[in-house]
Amino acid sequence: MSTVQQAVEYARKNQDKFLDDLKAIVAIPSISTTPENKSDMDRAAEWMASRLRNLGMNNVQIMPTGGPPVVYGEWLDAGKNRPTVMVYGHYDVQPVDPLDLWDTPPFEAITRGDNMFGRGTSDMKGQVVASLSAVESIINTGGLPVNLKWLLEGEEEIGSEHLGEFIQKHKELLKADVCLNPDAGMISADLPTITYGLRGLIYMELRIYGPSRDLHSGLFGGTVHNPAQAIIELIAGMHDKNGTITLPGFYANVRKLSDQERKDMAQLPTNEKFFLEQTGVPALWGEPEFIPIERTSGRPTLEVNGLLSGFTGEGSKTVLPAWAMAKISCRLVPDQTPMEIFKCMQAYLEANAPRDIRWELKNLHTAGAAITDIKSAGVQAMSKAFETVWGKRPLFKREGGSIGVVVQLQEYVGVESVLTGFGLPEDNVHSPNEKLHLPTWRRGIEALIHFFHNF
Ligand code: BES
Ligand code: MN
Repeated sequence: MSTVQQAVEYARKNQDKFLDDLKAIVAIPSISTTPENKSDMDRAAEWMASRLRNLGMNNVQIMPTGGPPVVYGEWLDAGKNRPTVMVYGHYDVQPVDPLDLWDTPPFEAITRGDNMFGRGTSDMKGQVVASLSAVESIINTGGLPVNLKWLLEGEEEIGSEHLGEFIQKHKELLKADVCLNPDAGMISADLPTITYGLRGLIYMELRIYGPSRDLHSGLFGGTVHNPAQAIIELIAGMHDKNGTITLPGFYANVRKLSDQERKDMAQLPTNEKFFLEQTGVPALWGEPEFIPIERTSGRPTLEVNGLLSGFTGEGSKTVLPAWAMAKISCRLVPDQTPMEIFKCMQAYLEANAPRDIRWELKNLHTAGAAITDIKSAGVQAMSKAFETVWGKRPLFKREGGSIGVVVQLQEYVGVESVLTGFGLPEDNVHSPNEKLHLPTWRRGIEALIHFFHNF
């Protein structure tokens, strides 16, 4: 039996052990955005470090950043004439609210049928465990054919801001020939996918202040501009009827989709029906001159992620609220930059906010848009691995989500990423009942084993 086949056999025999690993790390509620979970973040980092040590990685360190720590580990014994693969992962997850919509507790990984449920099972603790499992399978059979570096962060779900500083500070340590990044999913269980583009992001918080306190709506309604109304008037003006964004200068640096790219996108199975099925909406929305997949991956957007104002409890309260708040984020495409879009928003508010309220705009976090090189040796190795395991070539797509590290690695250390992963569109990532499709995950582990051998 070839060494690759031995590693695959090892992975097949050790499924339950790998799943136990995933259960253990899902049980740690490492939500990066909430300060209450800081100690859980540290525990998750320690779990990752001890897993790397068990694997036989050297120089395993939990390295401080201005944010959550980075877990680093390496194995460089393949030698100088062998390539070095960096494996990227994030151990943080998104919040779990609304909790009552979960059928099982979010931090207990529970298997039902072909799926394992729990926050982070798909995005992306399951993908990190898949990488660890593939490497373990190789180490315990023929041995690793490449050098390895692990870069595991805890700040991805909030924009990886401090990771950028970290990478700039540790350029030498992070030198590698390619970065395997399994944080981008697949189109469906039978369509292995390599992602070659990600959107960027700027996440803002807009606050509108009116009267100095909540007022009696009968005594003052009609004389005071209601902040809840003012904020929705401003928000309503941020798109025109077509779904085009109206902030001045917003589209100035948008890189146009080439004719070839538009042709390729039109061939993908992610058609209108796909989006209707995935979302449950009665009809789609957005710029009519672009097809849905272009709108979610090649065009920038502006979304209201949350709105808060006034009385929202049970029953009624006749009140004119003192303030209103909206969380607003824009997904960006090359060559837009987060800061230029922040300035567009400021300009829009300066031009359109009425004088009877005060406004305040904050930049919470950002991530850069990325296009990766699909001709790179890493992509070829992954593509061949998919052909071996799935019996077909992968699809190439651009994705609407953001992963901060991809541009940071390109810009600061010149490392290209192979973006892939074994999560599915129906995995409920960032939503209640997040899950991982186990048959796809198992094939994913095998594909990763082949990737390391091919590279
Ligand atoms: N894994 C996702 C991004 C993703 C999803 C890429 C599907 C490709 C396919 C990642 O964990 C994520 O959700 N990122 C955040 C980052 C943001 C807060 C800067 C996102 O896109 O909302
Ligand atoms: Mn995510």
